[in-house]
Amino acid sequence: MKTQAIVPAAGSGQRLKFKIPKPLVLLKSKPLIVYCLEKFQKCSLIDSVILVVQKKYLARFKSIIKNYRLTKVVHVIGGGKTRRDSVVLGLKVLDKDTDFILVHDGARPFIEESLIERTIAQAAKHQAVIASVPVKPTIKQVNCKKFIVEKTLERSTLWEVQTPQVFKKDILIKAHAQPITSEITDDAALVEKLGIDVHVVMGDYRNIKITTPEDLVLAEALLDSRN
Ligand code: CTP
Ligand code: MG
Repeated sequence: MKTQAIVPAAGSGQRLKFKIPKPLVLLKSKPLIVYCLEKFQKCSLIDSVILVVQKKYLARFKSIIKNYRLTKVVHVIGGGKTRRDSVVLGLKVLDKDTDFILVHDGARPFIEESLIERTIAQAAKHQAVIASVPVKPTIKQVNCKKFIVEKTLERSTLWEVQTPQVFKKDILIKAHAQPITSEITDDAALVEKLGIDVHVVMGDYRNIKITTPEDLVLAEALLDSRN
């Protein structure tokens, strides 16, 4: 069973408000993108990695890959306008004999090897698997024009979606081939539209996505807590 990872990292990080792209932001003097790539480098279940980045920074990323000896990164390619476009570009350079694809946001530095292993093991059984954690707060649906609560959602059924997400190759390719124009923020949403069951694997509350400036403070604290 051969699994390749696609790491979409071609966003500009508008919400983080740095001048450089989010994956290049230094976290304890190491570029953010390196953290997850080191985990893939170590994990024997990952055959190789396709890294998707902003075109104008291709050379910068390639030199980082070289400097950190991330030899499993076999392609560094330019991304698209949306996350979905970037993943689709990654799908185009997959090896022919790949069985499973693991997609992981480059903005999630704290993926653990055990989570990679769990999701891949479950994907072998269920074909479409996402890491996810039960939400902690109470979530309400709000009418965003009137700023009035429409309803309170039942917390026990709500899970926050993370990556990694692992899919059988042909399922993910078929999912992305659908002409869906609504905003898609994860790959599983497209697989759901095919009518295929997406299975949930317990994620990790530490596996945060760096999105806004306070997430960087949290990330540093998480790193400190490990040492
Ligand atoms: N991504 C991508 N290509 C895009 C947009 C996003 O590969 N055109 C990637 C990001 O680099 C990130 C992941 O998708 O690793 C999740 O996206 P997000 O956290 O939203 O990152 P950004 O789009 O960079 O941030 P923002 O939305 O704040 O601009
Ligand atoms: Mg984004």
